[in-house]
Amino acid sequence: MLNLIPLPYKSEEKYGEFVINNSTTVYADAELARAKDLFISLIEKVCGYKIHNVLSKNAVVRFLYDRVQPKEGYRIECSTDSLTIYASGYAGAFYAVMSLRQLFCMDVPEAPEILTMHAISVTDRPRLGWRGIMLDESRHFFGVETVKKLLDRMSMYKLNVFHWHLTDNEGWRIEIKKYPLLTEVGGKRRGTQTLAWGKPNVVSWIEYQGYYTQEQIKDIVAYAKERNIMIVPEIDMPAHFAAAVAAYPELSCGNRAIEPSVRHSDHTDIIACAGKESTYRFIYDVIDEICELFPAPYFHIGGDEAAKKEWKKCPVCQKSIKDNKLKDEEGLQGYFHNKIALYLKRKGRTMIGWNEILMADNLERSVIAQYWVPARDRNVEKQAEDGRKLIISKHQAFYFDMPYAMVKLSDTYRFDIADLYLKEESVLGLEGALWTEWVPTPERLDFQLFPRMEALSEVAWTPEEKRDYQDFCKRLSKRMVALDRMGINYAPFPVAEGRRFLSGYAKKVFTRKNAHAEYEKTMRKKRRGKQ
Ligand code: ACM
Ligand code: ZN
Repeated sequence: MLNLIPLPYKSEEKYGEFVINNSTTVYADAELARAKDLFISLIEKVCGYKIHNVLSKNAVVRFLYDRVQPKEGYRIECSTDSLTIYASGYAGAFYAVMSLRQLFCMDVPEAPEILTMHAISVTDRPRLGWRGIMLDESRHFFGVETVKKLLDRMSMYKLNVFHWHLTDNEGWRIEIKKYPLLTEVGGKRRGTQTLAWGKPNVVSWIEYQGYYTQEQIKDIVAYAKERNIMIVPEIDMPAHFAAAVAAYPELSCGNRAIEPSVRHSDHTDIIACAGKESTYRFIYDVIDEICELFPAPYFHIGGDEAAKKEWKKCPVCQKSIKDNKLKDEEGLQGYFHNKIALYLKRKGRTMIGWNEILMADNLERSVIAQYWVPARDRNVEKQAEDGRKLIISKHQAFYFDMPYAMVKLSDTYRFDIADLYLKEESVLGLEGALWTEWVPTPERLDFQLFPRMEALSEVAWTPEEKRDYQDFCKRLSKRMVALDRMGINYAPFPVAEGRRFLSGYAKKVFTRKNAHAEYEKTMRKKRRGKQ
């Protein structure tokens, strides 16, 4: 059994073993030198001695430039006495190193002074180009260290998109120099709803705040790039916009004076006024600053769950509907999104929005939709037929905030694009979404993400016909020893399998009875730590 997640495109195990020890020599062509340096530093960290970096192609380990390898693909030829890696650039060579890290068991070495792997031949490349994780930092804020850890772990499994949900009703988490109140006012809330969706009155009244400075963002973007990860920022609008309105009331219809949401049902009616020109100026200014920080050619503007009650009452929005000859408020949302899509296009960015943006019938053709709603949406199917590109985050498989009793590990692993009545060519890729209403700590974040991240990586990377859930579970149980070593608080079997009615630990993680008390304890501890 090949000890590798995600399984590669093709592999063939051979006879014998290859060994790395303190006399191993390593060579790289100039194009692959960075990946070679990473490989060497991983070995040195495990083994504790210096590896011989040589300039001769007669080295035992060789990184060779090979222009026929696809961008993220690579080939490994390993016999008993040599190891050769072929790639056409950093991305492929980096992924070869990530595979070698698992194949040499570098995370759980048996005899750390020597590393061994089976002789093998691997040809690898991804099934889908977009393999992502979304993190909501509005409901809870994690900070630089946790985000970097997450990027490390994503790259281990060849995930290449970090979709960063930076704003929502509960908090604005990115510094915008032209509008300092976004973080000063919009980045703080007086308390947090702690228990469950249906219990809005159970609130922990501990002030909650946090945001990333522009310097921190640049550092994280560079860190991600080293790991072949593109960061796509999301600024949610026109709804999920209460934190912005708390800072600048004039952004809303009727200049509403509000605070960032404490309960998750607070301000779900608040919406950016789509009639005022000043709203667009604000959004363009924010986009300008954000595009300077994120080089990705994509920009996510949310667009989900926009209640139109305020637009119906607002004379400025109604005038805009009339003046622009729009059908109704849905038409106004299309108009709003199209203006922003065109602005982004001029800045070389393609706009992405959650699938609700497709309800407007006049939406720019280039806009990409992220399909999340649990129900079948025939409009999404129709637009895909007409050439619309999609990212899939279907609730039933990829909403990683859900308890394992509802979104089981096997639901993620067995996801099939064809079950959505979509063709694979409409789909750019897959994304696991971690909303954080009920994820207050890095430990809980680990629990919701692992081992789902492993399952996602195999669905998105490995050819469909090679996927086998039983085989995956066997490889995963071996991998969990490595997760233990890395201090990842993963959901163990049978929790990840979603089996209910268990005693002890499993029961504890399925019930949220103590969530409020635990939340307050955690937040007090965190506050004490900061003082
Ligand atoms: C969403 O879950 N509102 C995209
Ligand atoms: Zn309005």
